[in-house]
Amino acid sequence: MSNRMVKLARRPKGMIVRDDFRLEEGAIPEPADNQFRVKIAYVSLDPAMRGWVNDTKSYVPPVAIGETMRAYAAGIVEKSNNPAFKTGDAVQGLFGVQNYAISDGSRVVKVDASQAPLQRWVGGLGMPGWTAYFGLLEVGQPKAGETVVVSAASGAVGSVVGQIAKIKGCHVVGIAGGAEKCRYVKDELGFDACVDYKGGNLAADLKAAAPKGIDVYFENVGGEILDTVLMQMNVFGRIPVCGLISAYNATAVPEGPKNLRAVLTQRLRMQGLIVFDWANRVPEAISQLGQWHKEGKLKIREDVREGGLDAFTDVLNLLYTGGNMGKLVLKV
Ligand SMILES: NC(=O)c1ccc[n+]([C@@H]2O[C@H](COP(=O)([O-])OP(=O)(O)OC[C@H]3O[C@@H](n4cnc5c(N)ncnc54)[C@H](OP(=O)(O)O)[C@@H]3O)[C@@H](O)[C@H]2O)c1
Repeated sequence: MSNRMVKLARRPKGMIVRDDFRLEEGAIPEPADNQFRVKIAYVSLDPAMRGWVNDTKSYVPPVAIGETMRAYAAGIVEKSNNPAFKTGDAVQGLFGVQNYAISDGSRVVKVDASQAPLQRWVGGLGMPGWTAYFGLLEVGQPKAGETVVVSAASGAVGSVVGQIAKIKGCHVVGIAGGAEKCRYVKDELGFDACVDYKGGNLAADLKAAAPKGIDVYFENVGGEILDTVLMQMNVFGRIPVCGLISAYNATAVPEGPKNLRAVLTQRLRMQGLIVFDWANRVPEAISQLGQWHKEGKLKIREDVREGGLDAFTDVLNLLYTGGNMGKLVLKV
């Protein structure tokens, strides 16, 4: 038995290709004092991974060439010299794209695998769920009766954002790519409406779905969708900027928002957010999301892919082509 690790081989240009990473084999690592070893079962594939391999100023340092790729993952503690973590504990943390990880417990969350399957703890009950929870409630500050629009609405973050906004009594409109995703968002997740941005009539379709204008726009994609939404924002609207996935693989600096004038005329507040900002409130998010999930108010879906570590780059790229349906997870 050995450990297999996906390491960054070079800085990607545009879409990630297989040669940007290399698979290395090594001994299964032994935990030192106060450390434990996790056998990873599910690696979370997150859009941010494309940014983590760029050597640019960001909220975390870039993954170094030769370093194991950063990733959230969930697994089981296999051997422990840390009194807070016992063999058999189910855990979630930044364990990397590999089979075994060593940790001292920092920013590791013990999860209840009897409450929800392990893969859900890197999805709707994990980091994407916490992002939706804090991003919408703290930055978006939706009020009952307001209209909330969210892009990438069928995905890991967007699906939770919309359902929380429904719980808070808002009129909720999703934006997603394709009829099947829109059907899922409306019929299964219970949004009031969903607009297919690939349908060619985004502005008119959005106007019909949000006739009173938009009070909160939870931004996951950027680009033309942002420009269209900006023109329909209500006065004193809020735009939590959670992600800009449409530009993550850009090889040239993307054009800025053309309709920034709306920020001025409608007195909008656009604010970026990084889930780490609420690291000390993660237990609150887990408790509330778990409660809603148990009550059937929060539906969560994972898109679990087989193929193990060899499939890492191919599966990751599904995020940037819209090929995933729900939280994208790699079984390893
Ligand atoms: N700030 C934070 O702390 C934080 C934390 C987690 C995630 N995020 C951000 O949240 C966003 C959603 O992440 P997620 O994990 O929930 O992913 P996801 O929504 O499950 O998957 C990504 C989705 O983005 C959409 N997309 C891809 N390229 C697009 C394009 N060019 N134009 C419009 N839509 C496009 C696709 O959906 P369609 O088929 O509908 O186009 C795709 O399925 C990302 O921007 C991510 O970076 C931020």
